[in-house]
Amino acid sequence: MTGQISEGKINEVREQTDIVELISQYVSLKHSGANHTGLCPFHSEKSPSFSVNSARQFFHCFGCGVGGDVFSFLMKTEGLAFPDAVRRLAERIGLDLEERTLSPEEELRDRQRESLYRVNEVAAAYFHQLLMEHPLGEPARKYMKVRGYGRKAAGEYHIGFALDSWDGLKKHLEEQGFADEDARTLGLIRPGKQGRGDYDLFRDRLIFPVYDLSGRIVAFAGRVLDDSKPKYINSPESPVYHKGRVLFGLYQARQAMRQSGEVLLVEGYFDQLALYRAGFPQVVATCGTALTSDHAQLLKRYVQRVVLLFDQDAAGKQATFKAMTVLQEAGVPASVIELPTGEDPDSFIQGQGAEAFRVRLEKARSVMDLFMDDVLTEAGSGVEQKVRAAEQIVEKISGLNSELEQDLYLKELARRSGIDLDRLKQVNKKAMGRGNQGKKTYSAPAQPENYPLPEPPFSGMTGGSDPKSARRTDSKPGWSRSEETLLCLFLQKHVSREKILAAGGLDLFNHQDALEIAQILLDNSVDSEFEMKSIISKLDPDKTRLLTALSTHDQGQFGENVEALFSGCLEALTREKKKRQRGESIDKLRQFEQAGDTENTKDLLKQFKNLK
Ligand code: UTP
Ligand code: MN
Repeated sequence: MTGQISEGKINEVREQTDIVELISQYVSLKHSGANHTGLCPFHSEKSPSFSVNSARQFFHCFGCGVGGDVFSFLMKTEGLAFPDAVRRLAERIGLDLEERTLSPEEELRDRQRESLYRVNEVAAAYFHQLLMEHPLGEPARKYMKVRGYGRKAAGEYHIGFALDSWDGLKKHLEEQGFADEDARTLGLIRPGKQGRGDYDLFRDRLIFPVYDLSGRIVAFAGRVLDDSKPKYINSPESPVYHKGRVLFGLYQARQAMRQSGEVLLVEGYFDQLALYRAGFPQVVATCGTALTSDHAQLLKRYVQRVVLLFDQDAAGKQATFKAMTVLQEAGVPASVIELPTGEDPDSFIQGQGAEAFRVRLEKARSVMDLFMDDVLTEAGSGVEQKVRAAEQIVEKISGLNSELEQDLYLKELARRSGIDLDRLKQVNKKAMGRGNQGKKTYSAPAQPENYPLPEPPFSGMTGGSDPKSARRTDSKPGWSRSEETLLCLFLQKHVSREKILAAGGLDLFNHQDALEIAQILLDNSVDSEFEMKSIISKLDPDKTRLLTALSTHDQGQFGENVEALFSGCLEALTREKKKRQRGESIDKLRQFEQAGDTENTKDLLKQFKNLK
C-alpha cells in the first residue's frame, strides 16, 4: 500500500464522508442555524467556539483558529499523515482505494475516459454558449423564458442549445482538434448511412448536461422546443455513462439531501429544476429510466428516506410501485406525494407555488399505504378479488425490514379489508419464509460496527477514540471508552480482580488490545497486586505504552464515583456485547438461510429473539 492515492479517490472519500457525522464522534455538537457547534477539541475552552458547517463540509474554531475539512480534522485529532487519514476514512466508508499501479490496459482505459470527459466538457461549453450568446439561440432562449427560466438558471445548470444543423457540434469539435472517435463513443455524433458523413445526435434541442458525483459531465439530454417527438433524447450508455447509476441533479442536490435526510425523486429534468429553485434543493431525477438498485444504494449514502413524485397517471403509478420494491430491497423507507391528476412537479409549482407544494410534502404518505389503497380499490368488493388483493399486499408487507412496521400495516390491512388479522399474520409469515430463500429479510438494522456507542462513563481519556474502529487493532487505542475505563479502574486498584472475574472477566472485553492487556493483568495479579516487570516483559512496545498511559492516567477524575463508574462500564459493555452477538447471529442466520439449513435457522431465530 505505497502507491499514490489518486485525486479522484481522494475526492470520492471527501465526498462520501459527512463531516458532521465524523466530528460528532469526537465532539458533542449542537445544531445552531446552518452550523453545528461544540467545544473545540484542539484547545481548552468553556464555551463553544468550534463550529462545523455541514453544507460546506468544513470545520473552524473561532477560538484557536484551526479549521479544515474531514482529512485535516482526522490528521489533527489522530496525529495522522494525509494519506493515512484518507485511508482511514476510506476504510470507514468501505471504499477500496486500489493503490496498486495500473496495468497498461487500465492506464489506457483511464486515459480514454479522461478524454471522453474532456469532449463532453467542450461540447457542453459549446451548447451553453449557443444558448447564452448566439443569435441562432434566440428560439431556445424564448422557450426557456416561457418555462420560467432566465439567464441565471441557465448559467447555474449550464443548460445549452444545439443548433438546427447536422454537424454543428461535429465541426466545432474538429476545429478544436478533437478526433471524431471520442464523440462517436459518447454518442454525440452518429455514423451516417450509405456513404453520408457522421451527424450530430442533438439538433435543435435544449440541452441539459448530466453530471456525475465528481462534477464531471457524463451525458446530455436534449428537449425539443415544440411538440414534436421524441420529446427528449438522451446520450446513450458509454464508458463514462451508465444511466442506471446516475441521477440528474445529484451533484447539486447532495448537500441538501444530507442536511434534510431526504430526497425528492422525480421523473423529469424540468421537474428537478423546478423543485430545486422553488426551495426544495434535495431533489434528483432519473434520466429517462426506471429506478435501479444501484440508484437506491447511491441515494442511501445520503438520505434516510425517499419521497417519490412520479407522474399522476397509470404509468406513473406503476413506476412508483416498482420504485417502492427497489427501495424496500435496499432498506430505504419511501413515501409519496400525490398531485392533482395531469400535473407534474414542474407544472404544480408553476401553477400553485412553492407553499402549496410544501403543504403536500408535509402530507406525504408511505408508499405502502398508497399501494394498499390502490390494490384494494382496484379489487372492489368481490370476495375472491379482495382475497387476491390482500395476498398481493401481504407479499409486499412481508418484504419490509422492520417487524413493527409489518405489524402496523397488517393491522391496517385487516381493518381495511375486513380479513381477520391472525389470518393475515399467518400469510405474512409464509410470505416471509418464501422471501427468505436467497434474499435477505432479517437484514440487520445496521452492521455491528455501526451500533451507537454506549455512553462513555467518563470522557476525555484518549481525547477521541473512534468508536467505529473499536473492533480493529490499530496502534492507536481503538477500544471503547468503557473498556478503557474498566482497565484503568483495575490497574489503579479501584476494582479488584475478583470483582472483574465475577462480572464476566475476559468476556467483558472486545477490542483485541483491551483483551490482551486484560488477560495479562488478570493472569499476573494476586489480590490486585500487579507484577509489573513480568507484565511488561510479556507485552510488545505498543501495548506497553498503552499500559503506561492507563496506569498513569489522572486518578482525580475517578473521585468517589468508582462504584457508579464500574457498574456503568459493566452495563455499557454488556450492552455492546449483546449487540455484537446479535450482529453475529444475524450473519450466521443469513449463512444458514442461504445454505437452506432450516433446523439451524430455527434455533438461531430463537436465540436471536432472546437477545432482543
Ligand atoms: P414526460 O413526458 O413526463 O416529460 O417525461 P416532462 O418531464 O414533463 O417534460 P416537460 O416538462 O414537458 O419538458 C418524463 C421524463 O421521461 C424522460 C425524460 O427524462 C423526461 O424528463 N423522457 C420522456 C425521455 O427520456 N424521452 C422522451 O421522449 C420522453
Ligand atoms: Mn413536465
